[in-house]
Amino acid sequence: MRLFVIGATGRTGREIIDIARKRGHAVTAFARSPQKLSAGGSLSVVRGDPLRWEAIAAALPGHDAVLSAIGPHPREAFRPSTLLTDCARATIEAMRVSGVARLTVVSAAVLFPAKGLYYAFFRWLLRHHARDLRAMEDLVRASGLAWTIARPPRLTQSPESGFRALGGALPQGSVAMSYRSVAAFMVDAVEQGSHVAEVVGLARGLAVAS
Ligand SMILES: NC(=O)c1ccc[n+]([C@@H]2O[C@H](COP(=O)([O-])OP(=O)(O)OC[C@H]3O[C@@H](n4cnc5c(N)ncnc54)[C@H](OP(=O)(O)O)[C@@H]3O)[C@@H](O)[C@H]2O)c1
Repeated sequence: MRLFVIGATGRTGREIIDIARKRGHAVTAFARSPQKLSAGGSLSVVRGDPLRWEAIAAALPGHDAVLSAIGPHPREAFRPSTLLTDCARATIEAMRVSGVARLTVVSAAVLFPAKGLYYAFFRWLLRHHARDLRAMEDLVRASGLAWTIARPPRLTQSPESGFRALGGALPQGSVAMSYRSVAAFMVDAVEQGSHVAEVVGLARGLAVAS
């Protein structure tokens, strides 16, 4: 497949690229800072602003799916922002214009209505980011595209790529998982055409290395 990755220079984005290439896909990394990636072989790197639909649309035709893992830098996650919503708006418009229908995006488990003080604290702490995530999800859900929204818990660096996925809810015991596992879920979903029009809760799975 030809896969188009937004947020390609980030921690999840880099894992998506690595897994997709290892599985034989051709990958286009769309990035505002392309110097952070090394193009070559099955990886093309295109410089562009993911908040401008015209820039995305110029590079998108011919791809089979868009995988978006854009996110605010950690210090920005505690301030009001519309980064994810603006990026989703631009991505959806570019996909419509380019005739590309398959989209998977990373959201976050904080949007699940889990009970308890621990979750209430994180919902409060991440309230600005959560508002942006929710608005982003609303746009994606209304897009008419073949979308999948992944909601992982806290993410950590680890070579593990196993995961558990549950439509509409957080799998039991979902506290933290690896960036690589989220990436594996997203690549699986586009390869298999699974979880279309679904908000999917994720959790760490069996320790699979890939
Ligand atoms: N980290 C967690 O614990 C956690 C938990 C649950 C869900 N998530 C979600 O996972 C997603 C990805 O997280 P991550 O930790 O993989 O992200 P990350 O490593 O911080 O990478 C963020 C990506 O977004 C790009 N970006 C940031 N601001 C931008 C802007 N203004 N314009 C254009 N591009 C911009 C960055 O590009 P540059 O390299 O050019 O800066 C980078 O490619 C986030 O949306 C987050 O909500 C994260």
